[in-house]
Amino acid sequence: MSSQRVTTGIRGLNELIEGGFPKETVILVSGGPGTGKTLFGLSFLAEGSKKNERSCYISFNENEQGLLRACSRINPLQVVSKNETFVIKSIDLGSDISVTRFIDIIEQFPSFERLVIDNINKLLLFAEDKRQYRTQLDTLTRYLREKVGCTLLICETENDRIDAGLGEAFECDGVINISFLEFEEKPRRILRVEKMRYTSFEPKVAHDFVIDRKGLKLGDKKII
Ligand SMILES: Nc1ncnc2c1ncn2[C@@H]1O[C@H](COP(=O)(O)OP(=O)(O)OP(=O)(O)O)[C@@H](O)[C@H]1O
Ligand SMILES: [Mg+2]
Repeated sequence: MSSQRVTTGIRGLNELIEGGFPKETVILVSGGPGTGKTLFGLSFLAEGSKKNERSCYISFNENEQGLLRACSRINPLQVVSKNETFVIKSIDLGSDISVTRFIDIIEQFPSFERLVIDNINKLLLFAEDKRQYRTQLDTLTRYLREKVGCTLLICETENDRIDAGLGEAFECDGVINISFLEFEEKPRRILRVEKMRYTSFEPKVAHDFVIDRKGLKLGDKKII
């Protein structure tokens, strides 16, 4: 396992985790609706685009047009456009999303340095039961660690949990959780590093997470 880092594309986050996500890992990015999971994923890929790294966004949620539209509202995301180093693959839910089929899709392309899968919960819809889902997650994460520089698996959560309760946080090498918090009577987004294998970091500290036209960043404020 190398100690190389993959920079996150979120201002202020690299510093918290020794320079970025460890290479050859799978990171869970979890949170409730509208917390900023998709924009987090797109920022991660935009960072790769700047370095000419091959990147791919696989979405079960939004089509290519929707993703490009989201990018158009955030300045640093405007580098994201469909070209040969940036692939957007939208999969509709009518199709069978078994892990083997999924791996076949990724295999069609030369290897990627950065990959985002939005979102992992949809795999469950096609699993026969929780046991099969967990086994599929295990197969997928093992495959991705070998084939991709660094992968973000986006996970929808409820009630401020850090995953969907089916072992996702255990299967992944790192977990970043985004949520909303009422602080000083003002609702705000917060981000926590819950887990990051091969890294020393301050666990579970809530950081202000800001989304605006200028990009995604962590604020100076730590919310304890
Ligand atoms: N330029 C901007 N300035 C401020 N906020 C913005 C800007 N562009 C988008 N947002 C906000 O960012 C929020 C997060 O969007 P995003 O799609 O990443 O959330 P999500 O967690 O993926 O949501 P979902 O669960 O619906 O997939 C949106 O609610 C949107 O209002
Ligand atoms: Mg989303």
